[in-house]
Amino acid sequence: MKGLILSGGKGTRLRPLTFTQAKQLVPVANKPVLFYGIEALRDAGITEIGIIVGDTKDEIREACGDGARWGVRVTYIEQPEPLGLAHAVLTAKDFLGQDTFVMYLGDNILKSGITSLVEKFKANKPNSLILLTPVPDPKMFGVAELREDGRVARLIEKPKEPKSNLALVGVYMFDRHIFEAAGAIKPSGRGELEITDAIQYLIDHGFEVQPHLVSGWWKDTGKIDDILEANRLILEGIAGRIEGTVDAASKTNGNVVVEAGAVVRNSIIRGPAIVGEGTEIVDSYVGPFTSIQPRCRIIRTEIEHSIVLEGSEIVDVGARIDKSLIGREVRIYKCPPKPSAYRFMVGDKSEIGIK
Ligand code: TTP
Repeated sequence: MKGLILSGGKGTRLRPLTFTQAKQLVPVANKPVLFYGIEALRDAGITEIGIIVGDTKDEIREACGDGARWGVRVTYIEQPEPLGLAHAVLTAKDFLGQDTFVMYLGDNILKSGITSLVEKFKANKPNSLILLTPVPDPKMFGVAELREDGRVARLIEKPKEPKSNLALVGVYMFDRHIFEAAGAIKPSGRGELEITDAIQYLIDHGFEVQPHLVSGWWKDTGKIDDILEANRLILEGIAGRIEGTVDAASKTNGNVVVEAGAVVRNSIIRGPAIVGEGTEIVDSYVGPFTSIQPRCRIIRTEIEHSIVLEGSEIVDVGARIDKSLIGREVRIYKCPPKPSAYRFMVGDKSEIGIK
């Protein structure tokens, strides 16, 4: 069995970060989202992994290399344009050959991994196995309607009047018949070959599509609130570890990770939180569910429930920073008291909230 991770796409919902960075490399608890997917496949015993890449191919290659660090072999497959998830499957046809495979969306994280579903797929040998999870707002998702016998009857992308609350999770298993399905469907209204249409083709042509309900949480990190939520969920499970320097005037409580070379002075860090290598936290408060990446400076500032990317500096911010995602090498600082004004230099499609 092979793995296919989709790491191309446009990432429009995560601009401006995705102007300069692949969304699959945005860190959650200081680890790129994509690495969680590679690890999930590896843990399920899958070692031949194809990664679909688009415009951000160089960055993805640089981050993942040949996969040896995880004990897997990575092959990069270029998708010339992000024409949909089913198009990505067609692009990988030569790599996948006649093998069964797991398709994993590179911006998704599943708490419980995929080992049990890979086992179920191998044991039952359906043509496809899809993952479903109940959601409060099914109108936002691809939704599955089940028949009375529990089999999948219909898949509908973002239904106006959902007949079930079971959303499709970004992990799917297929055998070679998916190529016939993806080759037969037409682009949707948004111009993409939709995987939901390809799976519907399988159902309509008598192939067996089995549902599997996800136990544990699942997150699609395509939007800021979902990244922060994934960060919270992953941090909830971390073990504390202090390898950097925390001075006597500082306090940490709860599960706090301070990486080697990080310095915490006269500050409070309330876990779960993680402070990356070489980061300085001085006269500050870092609250729960916060991930600060390496080489940042947080000085006389309060921050919680946030992610700060590599090399950023936040100095003398009067109010508490909350639920924020701050990019790489950003500077946030206090202006002089006169004139009383804010000062911004903000990239396209940035977002700033002030009280
Ligand atoms: P999406 O999040 O559905 O699409 P997107 O990346 O274009 O994002 P946005 O809607 O914000 O513009 O994609 C899910 C995953 O699949 C993500 O990791 C990107 C990847 N993908 C491909 O590799 N090829 C594609 O053609 C598409 C549409 C997505």
